[in-house]
Amino acid sequence: MISPKLPRIWYGADYNPDQWPEEVWQEDVRLMRLAGVNIATLPVFSWVALQPYEDTYTFEWLDRILDLLHANGVSACLATSTAAQPAWMSAKYPDVLPVDYEGRKRKHGIRQNYCPNSPNFRRLSRALVQKMAERYARHPGLVIWHVSNEYGPMCYCEECAKAFRTWLQARYGSLDELNRRWYTAFWSHGYTDWSQIETPTSTGDTSTPSHVLDYKRFQSDSVLDCYRNEVQVLRAVTPGVPITTNLMGAYKDLDYFKWAAEMDVVSWDSYPGLQTPAWDTAMRHDLMRGLKGGKPIMLMEQTPDQVNWQGINPLKPAGVMRLQSWQAVAHGADAVMFFQWRRGRGGYEKFHGAFVAHTGDEYTRTFRECAALGAELAATGDAIIGSTVPARVGILFDWECWWAVEYGSGPTRELRYVQQAERWYCVLHGMNVAVEFAHPQGDLSKFDVVIVPSLYMVKPGTAEALEAVAERGGAVIGSLWTGIVDGTDLAFLTGYPGPLRRLFGVWNEEIDPMEPGAEQRVCFAAPAPAGACIGTQTCSVAVERLHPEGSEVLASYTEGWHAGEPAVTRNAYGQGEAVYVGTDLDDEARRMVLNPILSARGIAAPLDVPAGVEVMQRVKGDRTFTFVLNNKSAAVSVSLPRAYTDLLTGAALSGDVDLPAYGVLALE
Ligand code: GLA
Ligand code: ZN
Repeated sequence: MISPKLPRIWYGADYNPDQWPEEVWQEDVRLMRLAGVNIATLPVFSWVALQPYEDTYTFEWLDRILDLLHANGVSACLATSTAAQPAWMSAKYPDVLPVDYEGRKRKHGIRQNYCPNSPNFRRLSRALVQKMAERYARHPGLVIWHVSNEYGPMCYCEECAKAFRTWLQARYGSLDELNRRWYTAFWSHGYTDWSQIETPTSTGDTSTPSHVLDYKRFQSDSVLDCYRNEVQVLRAVTPGVPITTNLMGAYKDLDYFKWAAEMDVVSWDSYPGLQTPAWDTAMRHDLMRGLKGGKPIMLMEQTPDQVNWQGINPLKPAGVMRLQSWQAVAHGADAVMFFQWRRGRGGYEKFHGAFVAHTGDEYTRTFRECAALGAELAATGDAIIGSTVPARVGILFDWECWWAVEYGSGPTRELRYVQQAERWYCVLHGMNVAVEFAHPQGDLSKFDVVIVPSLYMVKPGTAEALEAVAERGGAVIGSLWTGIVDGTDLAFLTGYPGPLRRLFGVWNEEIDPMEPGAEQRVCFAAPAPAGACIGTQTCSVAVERLHPEGSEVLASYTEGWHAGEPAVTRNAYGQGEAVYVGTDLDDEARRMVLNPILSARGIAAPLDVPAGVEVMQRVKGDRTFTFVLNNKSAAVSVSLPRAYTDLLTGAALSGDVDLPAYGVLALE
């Protein structure tokens, strides 16, 4: 569990008491109790309220509200408040303000608007956190630290340029090595002095892919250093108190695998739109859960009803918030938390959803739905927390590869890294097969099937780890634009897919992209008589010209000058197999690739349910919890193969069970 001090599913929201007079606080805690809230995240954006001048700290108000919350059974997810620096700081220390990609110095304002390498920002944020940690180290309400908020500032200033050069020196040792790795012989980009290396702004050098890639790595590390800067203080002053920071799912700028290694629990903010399919949100949960190898996560933020930052901000229809909350739990969350507790009276987010509307009472649809969910989560006691999702299918995901694919140039810009993972995920989600994401250099030993979508960049250890999966009887499925460059974006000279050529038993000679919207046809060969197709499927994005090297051809193209060439190959390897897909298959074709691989390994949905119904399991010791989520706006009927208890109602269920629109079952 996240903390033995609160052995429950955590339920609460971001809380901004400093936006309100203290009389309102009494009403807040009354309403929190009504809603079943057991945790509040605060103070997320209160730096100036805690330190109005450099030498003045004003923690008294925070003391009072933390005591009041604790007295009312509400624990604190204590935020360090460093995501938006006070105006006095930006004015007094200009190094705090960042320079953007266009090379422009930013003015004070918004939030996450600081240079991650600013010495004054590092010094002053650390000082605030030191004071806060010392003051609340023994506060009985403190259950977790919430460092900053949604990290992500990028900067291109002179301070960053200096730090970048130091980072490069540590990485490459010598300029000769840097020049070799960056391939600077191209266009006469060789460097003869470290000081010549600049930040790659839009007006600077964006033509050297390795330079741009290293800057992404460096900025991700720089922001991580800001997090570490606070974490060091927290670990020293409050050892044993878990630490997190709220991540943002498939957020491009930060290498979250690296971050997660320094977090005790992964938490993230989920803001699906009304049109976002259920698989999309599910995938982000599974990505976040994979960051720490499957440990339970926290849903740190979601909106109870609507957001304020889109052009149009529709309400979640009644029942959808509950459904999405249980979806998070089903995918491994031990906390269901929201932005925000109470709508502010003013400011940019005054129309953002909250438990408490501007009427300030409990008589709204949203409050009632939130209170009902609070009661339902409470009814599960400590049953679910700490349980894990037993996923046997892994999908590899690597932020560095994402950057390398999309910041370089190549055969096509239509190939999007995350989308390639999504294409596999959404088919597996439709089959109700549990998936977990993993880093290509992480532990793959628990997976029986590993999917390798567009792993353009293959770093040391990955080929061997994937070979080991196949050797012990597992299956590896690689697809389009895999095995092209090494970790510094230098092409493999041994034929694509480089170090994976032996595993897949295939040589990918060249890559022929298609226009957006264009399709090719692929035929999956029937076993006999040869020549017949088991249906004809389509593919898009690109055709890779594959040459089997010991592998068999499962599917071929049927049209144009690629007719007859292999689209999908299968290589027997060790006790297992490796399938390579040299194009972007349609969903049906993907199912044809996946089905035999999954069924050979007994990987199947935990329950047979109608389409549009999601099923996920979590296990703890000998207990198995089966979540059934109706993602459709219409009622369905689900037939249960045996008797269960629904943890949400205590009802005994068996046989055909009606599930209303957006309905949820938590079966044991
Ligand atoms: C993010 C932030 C919150 C709030 C919400 C609004 O997730 O972390 O502070 O701004 O967005 O949706
Ligand atoms: Zn900077």
